[in-house]
Amino acid sequence: MTETVTAPLKSLDDMPSPKGLPILGDMMDFVDGEAPWDVMLRYAREIGPVSRVDLPGSDIVLVSDPDAITQIMVTNSSDFYKKTPTAALRPVSTDKGDVFTQPGGAVWAERKAANPMVIALQGNWMADVLPQMQADISERVSSWIGQTFTHTYDELLHMAFDVFSNMLYGTQFEVSTFRDWVTVADALDHRMKSKVPFMLDSLPEEAGAAQDRNHADFQHAVKEARADTKPDGPDLLRYSLRNGCDHDDSLLATELANMYYGGIVSSSTTVATTLYLLCKSDVEKERVVNALVALGENPSAEAITQCEELQAAVFEALRLLPPVSLWTRNVRGDYPAAVGDYLVPPETSLLIGNRYAHRNADHWEDAESFKPSRWTAELRASDPPGSAWFFPFGRGERTCLAQDLGLAYIYLAVGTILLNTDPQVGLAKQIDQDFWFGCMVPKNLRSEFEPNHS
Ligand code: HEM
Repeated sequence: MTETVTAPLKSLDDMPSPKGLPILGDMMDFVDGEAPWDVMLRYAREIGPVSRVDLPGSDIVLVSDPDAITQIMVTNSSDFYKKTPTAALRPVSTDKGDVFTQPGGAVWAERKAANPMVIALQGNWMADVLPQMQADISERVSSWIGQTFTHTYDELLHMAFDVFSNMLYGTQFEVSTFRDWVTVADALDHRMKSKVPFMLDSLPEEAGAAQDRNHADFQHAVKEARADTKPDGPDLLRYSLRNGCDHDDSLLATELANMYYGGIVSSSTTVATTLYLLCKSDVEKERVVNALVALGENPSAEAITQCEELQAAVFEALRLLPPVSLWTRNVRGDYPAAVGDYLVPPETSLLIGNRYAHRNADHWEDAESFKPSRWTAELRASDPPGSAWFFPFGRGERTCLAQDLGLAYIYLAVGTILLNTDPQVGLAKQIDQDFWFGCMVPKNLRSEFEPNHS
């Protein structure tokens, strides 16, 4: 037990609660109406950054206070565990459970250490695979020139799936494989939002069949790689085989496939929000375009990912519209834990949010404005991703394990779009935010990719 669990702490009953206040009924706030992160932000500002809401069957503690979040995710993380998403994702996990689906502890650490992506990112793999990702992005973006999309996010998600397929398996799958993946992700999203415990670790019939087809496609790619004609390919699969990965075909196929879940939803949201925010300001858009053009003709993947103006715009989009805005954690079952000034009973559900920290006027100057130029070298050093006031990739030991790859993909996608088209994304409308697969995703976002005349 950690030493902070001591007498002066207050009880859960002392925690402020919106109940009875003339805002909205507690329950309705989280069923429909406002996006849940906006409700959290409002409660944090109006009631307090640690509060309690009564939902049917249980209380939920809402935590937006940066110090309390540090306790939960960093300093006292062993007092808490990941319960909800891990149970929801079990139908696509491996028998032993993978990094996503392990609640924490020794087995999670063991699965993480053996994860092909973790191992590859410790070496030089990312630098080798980025040129291929850049070429795949360029090809897709060229096909968009002159087009208008009413559901921009769907196009971005499809591009990310295809680019990740080549990055993970060294191959492109049929469109049907992507459609199947979306069907499975939809079913998992329903499980993640479910208010009742799961009786089964399997998916409904249609999604189950889509998952079987996906798994067969991914396993086939593994078999092909084993018998390979191009064993030097830069993809993660061939890298892993070359470096002695001893997973069997099914395990390897699943571990790689789960990187789609981890990566493409949140990365696509960030590509969309960065373009959307840049398109609202001619000055900011021009600043990034000029910096990209200054890299010379056909800049390398490395040059684009190092472009500071582009990086600043992406960081600012991650601050204002983080794709992951909410986390769930539970207090461990055996003893109560400290959350801020309170002692919270075993198994209590916590909902953690980052929007209060990311938009806090005491910490960020002109906090609600899109100002990429705030990301000076000093700010990057004082508030890096994973710090108390800026954590789009999470905090502590469960921080995103592919943060650098996710950022590189976003830089390449946004950079390539800005270099090759004159995008109009969102067309000055307020962005509509949906909650899908644990992420904020932009809904009904309209875009035009005009030819670039410069
Ligand atoms: C903008 C892009 C991304 C964002 C915002 C993001 C965000 C996050 C966050 C917040 C977590 C922590 C979850 C928690 O604490 O409960 C996480 C975990 C994870 N992410 Fe990412 N991610 C991104 C891109 C990626 C990419 C590209 C991949 C893989 C290719 C990836 C793979 C993972 C995995 C495997 C975990 C689980 C780590 C663990 O539980 O040990 N993510 N991500």
